[in-house]
Amino acid sequence: MDVEEILKFADNLVFTKTGKHLDNVQEAILRGSWQGQKYPKIAEEAHCSEGHARDVASELWKILSDVLGEAVNKSNFKSTFKRLHISIVSSTVEKNSVQIGNVNVCGDTSHSPKVPKTRSPFSTSTPENTQPQIRQDLRDAPDISSFYGRTSELATLQQWILQERCRLVAILGISGIGKTDLALHILPLIQHQFDYVIWRSLGASPTLETTLKNLIKFLSNLSETELPVSTDELLSLLMEKLRSHRCLIILDDVQTILSSRQIAGNYRHEYDNYSTLFKRIGETCHNSCLIINSWEPPREIVALTRENARVRTLLLDGLDAAAGELLREKGLLDEQQWETLINTYRGNPLWLKIVAAMIQELFSGRVAQFLQYDLLFLPEELKARLQQQCDRLSELEKQVMCCMGNEIESVSISQLLLKVQLSPSELFNALQSLGWHSLIEKQEQDNQALFTLSPVIRQYVKTEYFCDRT
Ligand SMILES: Nc1ncnc2c1ncn2[C@@H]1O[C@H](COP(=O)(O)OP(=O)(O)O)[C@@H](O)[C@H]1O
Ligand SMILES: [Mg+2]
Repeated sequence: MDVEEILKFADNLVFTKTGKHLDNVQEAILRGSWQGQKYPKIAEEAHCSEGHARDVASELWKILSDVLGEAVNKSNFKSTFKRLHISIVSSTVEKNSVQIGNVNVCGDTSHSPKVPKTRSPFSTSTPENTQPQIRQDLRDAPDISSFYGRTSELATLQQWILQERCRLVAILGISGIGKTDLALHILPLIQHQFDYVIWRSLGASPTLETTLKNLIKFLSNLSETELPVSTDELLSLLMEKLRSHRCLIILDDVQTILSSRQIAGNYRHEYDNYSTLFKRIGETCHNSCLIINSWEPPREIVALTRENARVRTLLLDGLDAAAGELLREKGLLDEQQWETLINTYRGNPLWLKIVAAMIQELFSGRVAQFLQYDLLFLPEELKARLQQQCDRLSELEKQVMCCMGNEIESVSISQLLLKVQLSPSELFNALQSLGWHSLIEKQEQDNQALFTLSPVIRQYVKTEYFCDRT
């Protein structure tokens, strides 16, 4: 074990947490601490003042402590990292899956310097007498890119999953709001507490049987021919595995198994049996956790969240001021105007990225010039995203959306009832479902609930086709 290996490992940890690699001062701090140097000497090596070196160090120890889930400081850095190194086993379970001691950080891949996924930074020095502690299969997970804000959401998820031992956590929100990115970034903060970590996308709409086989093959090392044939038996085998080991399963893009043009949360034909999976995981005793990402909650999740303390839902809002970092990264100018832009696009990182690219192309990044045009511009890419979302709505929901699209102010339920041709129960169902789709905003005013559309959604509803059809 040499200092270069340790620096590589630390670099991956820091990158996982911050999306940035170690800078010169951070590297000098780690190198110096490893060699037992004091801060004045470290500062000299880093060509900076001692005060600056101490400030950077304090931040760095915090990042490493957060990622590892244990306190790291200058005095215990060497012993902690030595211990982690000894507990590291890097044996590839399958292509693109790694096992690394009680922390999991992945190495660089050849196609992208930013992508930590396939190789342990310690893969050249694997101790033979140690037991693997985490088995990980992230082949379906997307690459990590810059990540801003979300500290309170990460803290909430950490609290629910580690302290409160939640069995099922649903991260919900409109497309592009950052569900996948958030799930990716919670991993380094919690995975050290699990024996197995597996990420699967339901983007290609696999049947329950396919998903179960896929999970079990990884969790139990059984081959296809050794697996039971019936879905019930597969489910029982999975539950057995979730009881005997602490497994973390992430299922991304769960909305693909849910139906369109019905009230939110119903399943597509032939995917109904996923409800048994979610119920069994939410209701029965085990030590594992399933995180699902979806545009809407599958119907049991709503009931389970209400009735079962170990099932939680995190409804994701847009980024707050942290979205400014995203705009900075995209090279936008006129910082004093960013708040307007962020509010208009509701801090949705994907929408902001699309609009930022357009502002960059047409206005060379000058936000003020773009905002001079008093219109809410929806680039085609953004419209296409919104269409996917709105195409899922039922006729009832579309009627309510069209009605709200014409209202500039927020409206109460009684006002809406006067405007739409719906019975109260139809309106209640439609509003509740639109809430699950994250398409309406609710606020309290003068002792009553008022509903409205965000500017982007209103613009889409007003200018696009679907109102003409209803
Ligand atoms: N906190 C964040 N900081 C920076 N970029 C983000 C953040 N969250 C999401 N993004 C970016 O926004 C886009 C959409 O995020 P994603 O997680 O795919 O959304 P969702 O899964 O909700 O559809 C991606 O390009 C992602 O990298
Ligand atoms: Mg996603």
